[in-house]
Amino acid sequence: MRLTTERLVLRPFTAADAPAFAEYRSDPAVARYQGWEAPFTLAQAEEFVRDVAESDPAAPGWYQYAVEVGGVLVGDVGVGLHENRMQADIGYTLATAHQGRGYAAEAVRRVLAHLFEVRGLHRVSAECDARNERSARLLTRVGFRQEGHRVQSTWLKGEWTDDLLFGLLAEEWRAGRP
Ligand SMILES: CC(C)(COP(=O)(O)OP(=O)(O)OC[C@H]1O[C@@H](n2cnc3c(N)ncnc32)[C@H](O)[C@@H]1OP(=O)(O)O)[C@@H](O)C(=O)NCCC(=O)NCCS
Repeated sequence: MRLTTERLVLRPFTAADAPAFAEYRSDPAVARYQGWEAPFTLAQAEEFVRDVAESDPAAPGWYQYAVEVGGVLVGDVGVGLHENRMQADIGYTLATAHQGRGYAAEAVRRVLAHLFEVRGLHRVSAECDARNERSARLLTRVGFRQEGHRVQSTWLKGEWTDDLLFGLLAEEWRAGRP
């Protein structure tokens, strides 16, 4: 499963990605609002890439695209396909050095195009920590609608945190296409 854009290649993870993956997941700024703890060890990264390398993007559960710029791994986009195969959750991470260039939005738009236009999904959902402004900005930028704000609903890294909930329907995606 390989998707391309003007600047990016989205492709399956391979064993060779583990060191770079461990490195950006170990950045405290990248891990701040995510479910894992920094540092993220090489052994954890090797286990992760082994698992995702075997996963099937068309099967329910999480599939992870590696995002590459000029042959360098800069981040990932995850798609959690619902059991009904008609809706999915999406998540994304970029190494700090590669943020602020529009790569995340470009990668997420490409995955959304694939999910809605090729796979025929009805809806994609996303959520982020209410303090994660870059993530909320990205979701809004690519067309998601904020649908909710759950107060103190996630216990994360020793505290209760608020979550913002977002959604995007296929018809909204089609209407927003240039
Ligand atoms: C969330 C995250 C992916 C957002 O990354 P990002 O680089 O800010 O997102 P985008 O791809 O939308 O880039 C937008 C920025 O690039 C800038 N930019 C520069 N060149 C650009 C270009 N050619 N095209 C588009 N935007 C460009 C935009 O102005 C914008 O900057 P601003 O937000 O300061 O105004 C990133 O912060 C991250 O990985 N965080 C850690 C992991 C995380 O929290 N993930 C989300 C969990 S819910």
